Amino acid sequence: MRPSVAPDSAAERGELEAFAGDVEYYLTLTPRQLPSRYFYDALGSALFEAICQLPWYRVTRAERRLLARHGRAILTRVQPLSTFVELGPGSGEKMAALIQSGRSRQGPLTVHLVDVSAAALDLAHRTLSALEDAEIVLHEATYEVGLTQIAAERQRAGRTLTLFLGSNIGNFDPPGADAFLHHIRAALTAGDALLVGTDLVKPAHELQIAYDDPLGVTAAFNRNLLVRINRELGADFDIDAFRHRALWNAAESRMEMHLVSARRQRVRVPASSLEVGFDVGESIWTESSYKYQPQHVVGALERAGFRFADQWIDETDGFALTLAEAM
Ligand code: TRP
Repeated sequence: MRPSVAPDSAAERGELEAFAGDVEYYLTLTPRQLPSRYFYDALGSALFEAICQLPWYRVTRAERRLLARHGRAILTRVQPLSTFVELGPGSGEKMAALIQSGRSRQGPLTVHLVDVSAAALDLAHRTLSALEDAEIVLHEATYEVGLTQIAAERQRAGRTLTLFLGSNIGNFDPPGADAFLHHIRAALTAGDALLVGTDLVKPAHELQIAYDDPLGVTAAFNRNLLVRINRELGADFDIDAFRHRALWNAAESRMEMHLVSARRQRVRVPASSLEVGFDVGESIWTESSYKYQPQHVVGALERAGFRFADQWIDETDGFALTLAEAM
């Protein structure tokens, strides 16, 4: 059987094959999993933007406050700056706010945006196109591929500031985070800078409601992954038969997001040549969101070949921005 929507370009066909292959691989692991990067189709990106406005999800607001308050100090530390890179720019508003807070900058800027989601890139591009004297370069790619492209294209003198915000780093497990920071370091030159935003460990009930909100927006965001698999891979997930579950794993210092089967059922995923049985209560683990202690962010950066420069903490919402320099 063919996927229900025919791809109209070789690139899209390649992406669909990668998606089908990932679903086949991860859904048959024990415990069953799905990679979180597939959350961000057009609807998923819109739902995530809505999550960022929920009163219970404070990551985005806390980070924006820190950037507004300390943006100038951040940029002053890394002058002369000619290039900005953002991995996962979302709406592009944080990057815009940061660049605008350093109004005194001189000379042209290059801004590279890397995201697997065309919808996110499109939105960020629109937000940032208002900036004067800035060339925006879009990389619809994984972070790794995007970083490699940027390193190869590099031409301007001056330093590069890479932003990895929104506690995105928390979606890697600790070895994955270390490997990814090494990867970023390898794409930079000594003196370049990295700004990382991390959500901090906080009381369990605050974390719980941030990832399982009373309006059900986070549940919709999580379950939309199954909607996407049905649409793009021709699967027959009964969306109503999977419940969103968020739980705080204190031993691992992470929130875990799951989709839990409400009944015994079989699901077919034709494009992945897959048929999977679910018991009642059996779950698909879709994402982890690790929560950090401020000094652990510094440790991870130092292990990856960065020198600590500064750290700004929002005590109200428990969030840290950490600036480091490539050694
Ligand atoms: N990077 C975000 C985070 O870990 C993504 C996110 C927010 C998320 N809410 C979610 C992922 C719910 C899965 C389910 O905070």
